[in-house]
Amino acid sequence: MCTRNPVIIVHGGCGNYTEDRKEVCLLEVRKAALQGYRLLQQGGSALDAVEEAAVILENHPLFNAGCGSVLNECGEPELDAIIMDGKSLGTGAVAAVRNIANPTKLARLVMEQTKHVMLSDRGAARFAKTMGFPEVPMESLVTERASERWRRNLQPGSTPVDSQIELGTIGAVALDSDGNVACATSTGGLTNKMVGRVGDTPCIGGGGYADNQSGAVSTTGTGEAIMKMTLARLIVFHMEQGMSPAEAADTGLQSMWTRLQSHGGVIVVNNAGDWGAKFTSENMPWAAATGDVLFYGVAVGDVRTSGTADIPQ
Ligand code: GLY
Repeated sequence: MCTRNPVIIVHGGCGNYTEDRKEVCLLEVRKAALQGYRLLQQGGSALDAVEEAAVILENHPLFNAGCGSVLNECGEPELDAIIMDGKSLGTGAVAAVRNIANPTKLARLVMEQTKHVMLSDRGAARFAKTMGFPEVPMESLVTERASERWRRNLQPGSTPVDSQIELGTIGAVALDSDGNVACATSTGGLTNKMVGRVGDTPCIGGGGYADNQSGAVSTTGTGEAIMKMTLARLIVFHMEQGMSPAEAADTGLQSMWTRLQSHGGVIVVNNAGDWGAKFTSENMPWAAATGDVLFYGVAVGDVRTSGTADIPQ
């Protein structure tokens, strides 16, 4: 029986954050990482830990996922999510779902209860109903902040959608004490996106990838660029070729910048418990818990907002 030191890393999305948003988002990713870590310490699986962490952030209105999601061109939230089990390569994803507060949970049901990998829109709604999965009113997934941004973006001369860099997708990767890795990623996508637009998040190898033979990755950034690079799978490939998680993350992000001039962020863990949290944007709130220490940060080189803390027993 393989016993590993469990590890969990959580991110709250890459972008350019205001000072107060930095603080709150960092606090929440720390909470999510701690909650996931507790579960791992109690012998929980990597899959359960990443789901738990993702749901905590989906339930916080400041993140672009779940109840804080940005709105499409018609002013409606359409959500995407993926979850992947590195032991079996089992994957569940949902795309462009409405009236669902926790798409990560629905994605897990797709993985466990269907023979498919991804369900979208009407089919996902139908599946959710069959499973007795809770539907929520659309208004409960629309924050004042998301509405304001949507209205502002409708004004003539507003900043084009793809140059806005506050993305805020959330994600988690983990290694459990049995040596299994998993990832989960969840998002509202890009603000004022076309109806039916699906980004990288639910795409296997884009928004996430997990394989016990190497490790797990969750990504954040502009979905169109991440999909073109298959960024999560690319980073796993670099680990398969012998790179550490940090090197693989830097190399993948650098390739995306060089090839497509697109910023992004990733969290990565390998099957030995080495990990990395990297981004080429200004900010990405992240937290990692392992060996009873919590590591965290939101801006490269900013000692005021990054550091370590002992995890109380
Ligand atoms: N990475 C999130 C999206 O573009 O949908």
